[in-house]
Amino acid sequence: MLKKWTNRKEEENNTSEEASLDPQNIPEHVAIIMDGNGRWAKKRGLPRVAGHREGMNVIKKIVKTSNKLGVKTLTLYAFSTENWKRPKPEVDFLMRLPERFLKAELPQLIEENVQVRITGSKEALPGHTRDAVNKAIEDTSGNDGLILNFALNYGSRHEMVEAMKDVYKEIERGRLAIEDVTEDIIGSHLMTGGLKDPDLLIRTSGEIRLSNFMLWQLAYSEFWFTEVLWPDFTEKHFKEAIAVYQKRTRRFGGV
Ligand code: FPP
Repeated sequence: MLKKWTNRKEEENNTSEEASLDPQNIPEHVAIIMDGNGRWAKKRGLPRVAGHREGMNVIKKIVKTSNKLGVKTLTLYAFSTENWKRPKPEVDFLMRLPERFLKAELPQLIEENVQVRITGSKEALPGHTRDAVNKAIEDTSGNDGLILNFALNYGSRHEMVEAMKDVYKEIERGRLAIEDVTEDIIGSHLMTGGLKDPDLLIRTSGEIRLSNFMLWQLAYSEFWFTEVLWPDFTEKHFKEAIAVYQKRTRRFGGV
């Protein structure tokens, strides 16, 4: 079994930069856990925030590539509900990044027909962060291209608790019967609402875990992990992940 798995990994990883992707089999929704910024900075003797700044610059390239390839939704885990535990200067820096990114990139995103969305609790964000993301959401609301979805102050367990409470309220008010609660009903109350579940999850930096990210939505997604630290992640790595995805057979529990 292990041997089979190892062979499969070798076969999957045998994709070159020039790997030609099948345009008919591009994952519609790609979700990324952008990890390794701190280690990237440490390796260079820089403060952790330098890694986050560099990580922000990578986003621009991956958005461009996603658009070019025909990915329909790109969800990026930018800040988790657990990240508030980090030192305050780091949290403050991270909370400035959406603003900085959008200030520089919003005109281009609008031109590229990108729709900016947020998944997470906006209420707890500092006013300046909330204003920046609200403006981007509003300014791109008329677009119908790539959905660039930032998971910001997002935690999957929190999201599920809130969804359960909403469903319970509907039952209590007599708008929904217990027998009518389905996976679709629960799914529609999640913060990802109308978004399709991710087809492909990428996590950088060699960590093999989900860290409270989209636990419900990733039930049948394909996972691709890489040792590459997020600030070093390039278009080539992104295409490599998609090439591996295209070699997988998705069975969704069937045969
Ligand atoms: C995890 O790496 C990364 C984060 C918690 C932040 C990710 C944010 C960005 C890449 C930029 C966001 C930009 C916008 C526009 C929202 P880590 O710090 O845990 O790295 P480590 O595990 O090496 O310490």
